[in-house]
Amino acid sequence: LHIAVLMGGWANERPVSLMSGEGVAQALEERGHTVTRIDIDRQVATRIAEVVPDVVFNALHGVPGEDGSVQGMLDLMGLPYTHSGLATSVIAIDKQLTKQALVPHGIPMPGGRIVRSAELHERDPMPRPYVLKPVNEGSSVGVAIVTDEGNYGNPIARDAKGPWQEFGELLAEPYIKGREMTAAVVEFEDGPRALAVTELKPKSGFYDFDAKYTDGMTDHVCPADIPQHITDLCLEYALRAHKLLGCRGTSRTDFRWDEEQGEDGLFILETNTQPGMTPLSLVPEQAKYAGLDYGELCELLIAAAMR
Ligand code: DAL
Ligand code: MG
Repeated sequence: LHIAVLMGGWANERPVSLMSGEGVAQALEERGHTVTRIDIDRQVATRIAEVVPDVVFNALHGVPGEDGSVQGMLDLMGLPYTHSGLATSVIAIDKQLTKQALVPHGIPMPGGRIVRSAELHERDPMPRPYVLKPVNEGSSVGVAIVTDEGNYGNPIARDAKGPWQEFGELLAEPYIKGREMTAAVVEFEDGPRALAVTELKPKSGFYDFDAKYTDGMTDHVCPADIPQHITDLCLEYALRAHKLLGCRGTSRTDFRWDEEQGEDGLFILETNTQPGMTPLSLVPEQAKYAGLDYGELCELLIAAAMR
């Protein structure tokens, strides 16, 4: 096949996407496909039209690329593409819209409140500890945990030119103490399956950008050393979230678990429709655990795109 791999762009997660895209492009070439790498810019539609690919592999993360914009463009061009479609992407990129889509179906997620970053100069939006995050970023870009002892991650700006200004609005959520887990869903010919649960144990602080992409900074425990009924619940929620949101190809659902609360302490933070494909990323790692190598995973995503 002739496959255009979209990567890079101008998102905050550009460096992550370049790693994902290059990994995917090399794996697809090794499997005999013709690959055109496209670092997207405002002329991306023209460039794709010149290439005339059989299928587009979307290796973008963040906005644009994970938010429906690129998906809508490819729909208009009539080209098949990997990962989720337009409507799913619009909802899943937005952590607050995701809650509105999943919570009524019994999927537990922390209650959230949208706050203007300017409000944060005046008062706490909820009792500490809480988490502040942009609604539509990935890889923990812009995330802060605010506790009585201080802030981890980005400090709250005390002047108008602080780091929060660039986000304008933020999502505030109660901080769930405890453990961090993730579960990938991959679509096989006979339908989607949740692969495994991985626990992420950062060696210091929380699972932030550096802990995600610096080798050795986080231990990945797969399968997670947690009670079987919590594993089963994670797998069930990940699969249900994938289906409820209408994801295609793959998704990865992230969890926090306060073990003192038992099953009631398990919460979904979000479902990622464009999960990372870097050497330290979790979907390829869980695929390997399930017996699929990286190239086979890429082929499954292409197959789901072309069905
Ligand atoms: N946002 C990053 C790429 C992830 O979810 O893996
Ligand atoms: Mg994310």
